[in-house]
Amino acid sequence: MSVVADLTVLGLLGELDDIGRDERGGWTRPGFGPADLQLRAWFVECATGIGLDVVADRNGNLWAWWGAPGPDSVVTGSHLDSVPGGGRLDGPLGVVSALVAVGRLRASGFAPIRPLAVAVLAEEEGSRFGIACLGSRLLTGAVDPLAVLPEGFDGLDRDRAGRDDATLSRIGRFVELHVEQGRGLVDLDAPVGLATGILAHGRWRLTITGRGDHAGSTRMADRTDPVVAAARVVLAVEEAALAVPGTRATVGRIEAVPGGTNVIASRVELSLDVRAEDGGTVRAVVARIAESAALAAARNGCGFAIEAGSWSDEVVFDPTLRSQLDAALGGVPALPTGAGHDAGVLAAHLPTAMLFVRNPTGVSHAPEEDASEADLNAGVDALEQILRDLAS
Ligand code: GLV
Ligand code: MN
Ligand code: MN
Repeated sequence: MSVVADLTVLGLLGELDDIGRDERGGWTRPGFGPADLQLRAWFVECATGIGLDVVADRNGNLWAWWGAPGPDSVVTGSHLDSVPGGGRLDGPLGVVSALVAVGRLRASGFAPIRPLAVAVLAEEEGSRFGIACLGSRLLTGAVDPLAVLPEGFDGLDRDRAGRDDATLSRIGRFVELHVEQGRGLVDLDAPVGLATGILAHGRWRLTITGRGDHAGSTRMADRTDPVVAAARVVLAVEEAALAVPGTRATVGRIEAVPGGTNVIASRVELSLDVRAEDGGTVRAVVARIAESAALAAARNGCGFAIEAGSWSDEVVFDPTLRSQLDAALGGVPALPTGAGHDAGVLAAHLPTAMLFVRNPTGVSHAPEEDASEADLNAGVDALEQILRDLAS
């Protein structure tokens, strides 16, 4: 039935290897950029090749159906976009495993009594517009397309994008397989596990303003240098996070504007990502950061401003669905994650679950992210078992 040459996880991942490779290391595949578009076209071809009917929704998400879409469906999938210089598994593993599991079920003669679908959710990493899980947030109405999509963006039609109850109502239950982004399963000595929940998470933009000037003719005492202030702000971020155990705070992007070797910058822009067990803790840590960063910037005579980006409350995955999956798998460990996922956004609307595959390095959002062939196979076997169970 399948016209896909090598319907295995490594076979399909291999087909994606050359798409969006970054010469600095890893893969860079921002949502709706050339590499992502190539991956999406690949998905349509592959899903069609195993006999699924692919439809795109108004928010850039792709749904490959086996059976007529309906409210008692079982949907599995993940994302194809990546962070800059990311690993090869964060996102694609969930899509590829879903295609292999569904392809195998079809080849085995399995007759589902509920519709099954493989999904690709758009721009999960938020590398494009700073909004994580863009496709699922637009779909569920968590963000306003006119507020988050720039005018003239040709990846999506801003006037048509946004809350889509018809599509949402066709997702009965959603299961996302993902490489683990930590060493929880290594410590538990288990190839796969189920997620309990996700940390609360927010993103902010910090701007430090100083005075642009000449690197040679401006005496040290006469400078209002926002880069020096930015160094102090980064230390303030670290200090605020360390003061509250379990909190994670990251400045992942720093841009000195205009950016010249012999130019004292006039402005520095920094990204801030903060996560903790609950939203209240995240907000309290960020309030402390804002206060100490303003003081730190002032030491260099600089201004400081903070602007909110995306926000995600803490997530607890559906305990009933998790128990059902646990039983289908004969008992596997359950563990939380600090990483965000579309399954977490969908969890506010329907029963969702996540299946993690062991990552020996524990590293993610970097090329060292990994999984052994045996564990990749254990992941797809588990997903196939779950789909068989949920769709019978
Ligand atoms: C996505 O992987 C995130 O947690 O930022
Ligand atoms: Mn990621
Ligand atoms: Mn991911």
